[in-house]
Amino acid sequence: MSLFGSKSKKVSAASRLEGTVQFGGDKSISHRYAMLAAIANGESEIHFFSPSADCQSTLNCLKSLGVKIERKDNVVKIAGVGLDGLRAPTGPLDAGNSGSTIRMLSGILSGQPFRSVLVGDESLSRRPMKRVADPLTLMGARFKTADKGCPPIEIEGGNLHSIRYEMPVASAQVKSAILLAGLFVEGQTEVVEKVPTRDHTEIALELMGADIGRHQQTIAVRGRARLEGKKLYVPGDLSSAAFFIVAGLIVPNSNLMLHNVGLNPTRTALLDLLVPMGGRVKVVNLEMLNGELLGDLHVDSSQLAGGEIPQELVPGLIDELPVLSVLGTQTEQGLTFRGAAELRVKESDRLAAVAENLRRMGAEVEEFPDGLRVAGRQKLRGAEIDPHADHRIAMAFAVAALVAEGTTTIKDSSRVDISFPDFFETLQRVAG
Ligand code: S3P
Repeated sequence: MSLFGSKSKKVSAASRLEGTVQFGGDKSISHRYAMLAAIANGESEIHFFSPSADCQSTLNCLKSLGVKIERKDNVVKIAGVGLDGLRAPTGPLDAGNSGSTIRMLSGILSGQPFRSVLVGDESLSRRPMKRVADPLTLMGARFKTADKGCPPIEIEGGNLHSIRYEMPVASAQVKSAILLAGLFVEGQTEVVEKVPTRDHTEIALELMGADIGRHQQTIAVRGRARLEGKKLYVPGDLSSAAFFIVAGLIVPNSNLMLHNVGLNPTRTALLDLLVPMGGRVKVVNLEMLNGELLGDLHVDSSQLAGGEIPQELVPGLIDELPVLSVLGTQTEQGLTFRGAAELRVKESDRLAAVAENLRRMGAEVEEFPDGLRVAGRQKLRGAEIDPHADHRIAMAFAVAALVAEGTTTIKDSSRVDISFPDFFETLQRVAG
């Protein structure tokens, strides 16, 4: 494989992948630890903080709210200001490309006695924010958004009251925004989730001393509890590891060892799907850290059956569907999924971006309003890939390139910095 240039990267077929990979800290967990550490009392020290540009956006916003943060590589020290210590920002808070930053921070900002404005890049400025504005408005915050409920968002916070909210969309970001706002309310805020989503916020809240309870589909938080700063460790990012899990399975003769990967059961739908399909992924050395499960994964190349992804697995796979679509082309029966209309409002329209780029590589794909059908046993050929300014599309197609004939050019490849800055270097290392 030869890789060059910072704008475009060229990736060719690999004869095997081999080696050990340690991933950066989980992006979802890092956002949450940083936000909670900021409103806790005393100092927090977060180890293995995510190297992603998205998590840096969260840190930047928190600094603009008067929080002292020191970062040295993957260790972040945050001097918590307590529930009432955030300062009004002097300008707009820039969430960059990060949906988690803008949505979850909206929850905290709704509880503040000042006005804030949140902005984002071009992609974030097209994403729906009504889903957070609606419940937070019910709690008493005042929201203004641009056309169609997109950013910029202006929030007049303060004087919130508790609500019980049944989630109309499966979204951990929206759930988290409500729970974070609930910290500033006298009384109990309840969120009802029909479809369970990642529960890192609930785990972190409990760890830091919040008064939180869970019963079946309801999560309840009682406000005004004192949060305490902590020494925290972030497990490796399973959504980054997903690219190497898929690559290890579909590139012949591969053998990868992935270390310290976060295996919270609300995130492991990828393994629940791939193992019964014939994927040789073995989980070893399981341990619990800060209430989060992690372990090592051994991945060996496999013959994969493919088939239809059960709809109940889809919310738990949402970030992995682009790379799973690539995997689908290498299965016996191909891969079909429905119930994933959310993919149209991610960093790009991921259904359209995956279908377009798979076709560029010569694959047969059918696009539905809420899913894709990817034919199996496809011979991919090298092509020019347009990631549509989306990190996960760029990485998914770098994986496709490993099993394609000829060379693939991934345009705008530095997009990977959004979640996984070392992606291409890591891929090059295991491809030998
Ligand atoms: C995330 C939740 C998911 C996911 C995103 C990260 C989180 O989004 O796609 O990458 O950290 O809570 P939704 O909450 O919109 O489903």
